Amino acid sequence: MKIAVLPGDGIGTEIVAEAVKVLNALDLTFEMESALVGGAAYEAHGHPLPESTLNLAKAADAVLFGAVGDWKYDKLDRPLRPEQAILGLRKNLGLFANFRPAICYEQLVGASSLKPELIAGLDILIIRELTGDIYFGQPRGRRVATDGHFPGAEEAFDTMRYSKPEIERIAHVAFQAARKRNKKVTSVDKANVLETFQFWKDVVTEVHAQYPDVELQHMYVDNAAMQLVKAPKAFDVVVTGNMFGDILSDEASMLTGSIGMLPSASLNSKNQGLYEPSHGSAPDIAGKGVANPLATILSAAMMLRFSLNQEAAAQRIEAAVQKVLAQGLRTPDIWSEGTTQVGTAQMGDAVVKAL
Ligand code: NAI
Ligand code: MG
Repeated sequence: MKIAVLPGDGIGTEIVAEAVKVLNALDLTFEMESALVGGAAYEAHGHPLPESTLNLAKAADAVLFGAVGDWKYDKLDRPLRPEQAILGLRKNLGLFANFRPAICYEQLVGASSLKPELIAGLDILIIRELTGDIYFGQPRGRRVATDGHFPGAEEAFDTMRYSKPEIERIAHVAFQAARKRNKKVTSVDKANVLETFQFWKDVVTEVHAQYPDVELQHMYVDNAAMQLVKAPKAFDVVVTGNMFGDILSDEASMLTGSIGMLPSASLNSKNQGLYEPSHGSAPDIAGKGVANPLATILSAAMMLRFSLNQEAAAQRIEAAVQKVLAQGLRTPDIWSEGTTQVGTAQMGDAVVKAL
């Protein structure tokens, strides 16, 4: 079981260290190799995704990734910014399906800003398409407008696009995931305004014909944003494009109490995957030893499940996380009156002990 460990920068190094600690506490043998990525790689090699890092990721069964990005790099040319590393990895490894389960652990019901009855028992799965949409669509750039409301003015533009095979494969992933759950898929689009998402809706409907046992519902993204906080438990599997999925999954993270609790898996068609917390590098708290490592530890559990075929070990980690929460241990982001505040490393140690 070959794992490429790419901590990145910001809190990435702190939280990945805890996940590695947890993996090493299992009675399994891994071949783990680390490499620089993001800002850390830019500092050392002048590029956020060096060839050697990419090759290590390609050769591995799975990639355990921390986070990349810092405002101090905002002035760099876009291809040199840390965030390009994660986009480059997704593209080069063909990671098109992003699973973001939003589960509200019973012990954290009180940590969410939502009413307990709305989120108690919440277990939904957001599946975000990861390689298409406006994040990758060409052409893009800046120019002087020749038409529009202000001809002659400077303007910027991106292109939203999806091909039929891209939509088909993510739709299959969603319907198959739903079959293992509650057999309900909500496809989120903006078909009323965008041609790209009318096409999305049409193709998802077409693929649905092969899954008559699964219920399919279509919802506009603005309504989905509202329903997610109004009645989140009405959802089960949500499938959507790259940009809507980015936004809705951050929104969903708040249903779980903290973005520090939300793991993710990004898979290609060979079940090779990249596993990372859904949050970013949190420069505001980096280096302080207070970041919540649980999203990364739970991402490592997803890695065991999806890419390394170690379901039992995945469940052991998830149970250990619930145990430390039941013990009342909380990093500051999930702390509430009456619980015990701990730092990043203490939380990792507690999970190891619970294992
Ligand atoms: P962020 O997710 O890094 O932080 C948002 C807020 O959540 C901050 O207040 C932060 O302190 C808090 N937070 C995040 N993770 C936490 C954790 N584990 N424990 C406790 N609190 C946590 O998003 P932001 O601030 O918008 O972006 C910061 C940088 O991260 C940017 O450069 C951005 O581009 C990058 N980024 C990278 C991602 C990746 O590596 N996949 C994903 C999202 C953002
Ligand atoms: Mg995001």
